[in-house]
Amino acid sequence: MKISLTGIKPTGTLHIGNYFGAIKPALALSARYDARYFIADYHALNVMKDPSALRQSVLEVAAGWLAAGLDTKKVIFYRQSSIPEIFELTTILHAFTAKGLLNRAHAYKALVQANNEKGADPDAGINMGLFTYPVLMAADILMFDSDVVPVGRDQTQHIEMAQDIAQALNFNYRQELLKIPQAAVEEEVAVVPGLDGRKMSKSYGNTIPLFASEKELKKLIMRIVTNSQGVEEPKDTESSQIFALYKLFASADERRALAERYRAGGMGWGEAKEALFFVVNRELSPLRERYNALISNPDSLIATLEEGAEKARVIAGKTLARLRKACGI
Ligand code: TRP
Repeated sequence: MKISLTGIKPTGTLHIGNYFGAIKPALALSARYDARYFIADYHALNVMKDPSALRQSVLEVAAGWLAAGLDTKKVIFYRQSSIPEIFELTTILHAFTAKGLLNRAHAYKALVQANNEKGADPDAGINMGLFTYPVLMAADILMFDSDVVPVGRDQTQHIEMAQDIAQALNFNYRQELLKIPQAAVEEEVAVVPGLDGRKMSKSYGNTIPLFASEKELKKLIMRIVTNSQGVEEPKDTESSQIFALYKLFASADERRALAERYRAGGMGWGEAKEALFFVVNRELSPLRERYNALISNPDSLIATLEEGAEKARVIAGKTLARLRKACGI
């Protein structure tokens, strides 16, 4: 079976955008691939310096993926920080990474540009972890002989860099020591609109948390911005973010029925929001229950991640031994 691997950055509470954009597609892939999914906690350290926030984020992400259906009997699920071999591989990869490659990374360039625009020193606020981020990410991927890496479009440059670095190393030793990974970007994933109609994103502050309580969920849905059309007016489905969200959670029949009510008029936005709340809550309430049970037992979550790490380390140990030998270390 081919290998699918992805890293999950533990930065903040999971929301519905993460669910449709990352969690669901990755879990679907895990049925057809040997999947290795991990929490990239050392990547998060570059931007999260508050230990309790980082610890809490790791637990929330772990509980979230498990509640959404990640099956640890099938998927190796671990914390990056539990695999010291990854950091040794990072050191090896540094020797094959042109500094110029990292200079060209979009994420790094955006930080430099923001500094320039502010008239600040170009390096202000940029730590070496951010600069070398793509090398650590390449080690995450290359360590596990990954065939495909399910990621969002914003991450494709990182996958190309992992390819470049692996090729440079393979070329030097005249051997296929590292498998060349491919990005798997979900083309189909619908943009999940946030409360204000822009793409749902933590940075816009317009998210619906995946595990919001029923009460909070209702409150947030009622806050979705609409136009000022009255009850009797027919409504447009295309431009309605209520409808866009409804589509994600409803059956085909339900979708058609709501579209018909939009066309016919006589339904106010309040009622459309009630319909949306019903389908969202129907899908999320079993997840929420599992999540609440998982998050209330952090020791057991950590134990689950450690079991995954044990399995991952067996693979990582082999890759690293192969590389050390090839390098003459
Ligand atoms: N950089 C990824 C993100 O921001 C997270 C990540 C870290 C990752 N290591 C990875 C993704 C390895 C895929 C493979 O979302």
